[in-house]
Amino acid sequence: MRALVLAGGSGSRLRPITHTSAKQLVPVANKPVLFYGLEAIRDAGIVEVGIVVGDTAPEIRRAVGDGSAFGLKVTYIPQDAPRGLAHAVLIAREFLGDDDFVMYLGDNFVVGGISDLVARFRQERPDAQIMLTRVSDPRAFGVAELGVDGRVVGLEEKPERPKSDLALVGVYLFSPAVHKAVAGLTPSRRDELEITDAIQALIDGGRRVESTVISGYWKDTGNVTDMLEVNRLVLESVEPSVKGEVDEASELIGRVVVEPGVTVSRSRVVGPVVIGAGSVVRDSYVGPFTSIDRDCTVADSEIEYSIVLRGASIDGVGRIECSLIGREARVTPAPRVPRAHRLVLGDHSTVQISR
Ligand code: G1P
Repeated sequence: MRALVLAGGSGSRLRPITHTSAKQLVPVANKPVLFYGLEAIRDAGIVEVGIVVGDTAPEIRRAVGDGSAFGLKVTYIPQDAPRGLAHAVLIAREFLGDDDFVMYLGDNFVVGGISDLVARFRQERPDAQIMLTRVSDPRAFGVAELGVDGRVVGLEEKPERPKSDLALVGVYLFSPAVHKAVAGLTPSRRDELEITDAIQALIDGGRRVESTVISGYWKDTGNVTDMLEVNRLVLESVEPSVKGEVDEASELIGRVVVEPGVTVSRSRVVGPVVIGAGSVVRDSYVGPFTSIDRDCTVADSEIEYSIVLRGASIDGVGRIECSLIGREARVTPAPRVPRAHRLVLGDHSTVQISR
């Protein structure tokens, strides 16, 4: 069995974070979302992985390399433009050969991995096995309609009027039967070859398509609230470890990871929290469900339930909650007069100011 991981796409829904970085590398608990996928694939006993890459290919290659760090053998498959998930299968035909495969969208996060699903597929060998999850706005997803017996009867890509709240999760298992379905597709309304159409063709052709409903799922629908929530879920199971320096005037409570080269002084950190290598926390409070990436500074401030990306600095600003702070961002107090907010916001930024 092989894996096909999709790591192209522009990440328009997570702007401005994805203006400067591939969406698959957005970190959850300080680890790129793509890495969780690769680990889940490895844990399911798969070694041969093809990664489909687009404009952000150099960045993905730099992060994943030949895959050996994950115990995988990675082949890169360049896609000239985002032409759809089924197009990715089409161009990976040679890599996939006649093996069964799991297709994994690199911006999807599935709590608990995929080992059980892969095991079930290996045992039952349907032509396709899909994962579904209940979402509040199905219009941002492929949506499945189930028959009374729970079988998938129809699939629609990003419908205006969804027939259910069951969204297709970006993890699909296929037998080689999918190749014929893919070869027969024509581009959709959004000018892509849709995998939902390929699965629909399998259903229409009388092939066996199984589904499982899961919980514990996230994708980049641009909803920072969801991202903070998945960050919370992952932080809840981190193993506490303190490799950096924590002075005597500081207090660490609960699950806290302090990576090497971190200094924590005169601060109170209430886990679950991760603080990435080289960061400085000084005269501050870091509250539950906060991920601080490498080389950040948090000084004279309070932060809780937030994600702070690499190299950002938060200094002397009181309390921050429910926030996503981008790489190298600077959050500082304004001069005393005039009493005004001074903002340099990147394109597509969101800021909420309390008055
Ligand atoms: C793709 C699929 C969609 C699925 C989603 C899951 O959407 O087309 O059916 O629900 O992935 O991540 P896209 O990421 O192209 O918006």
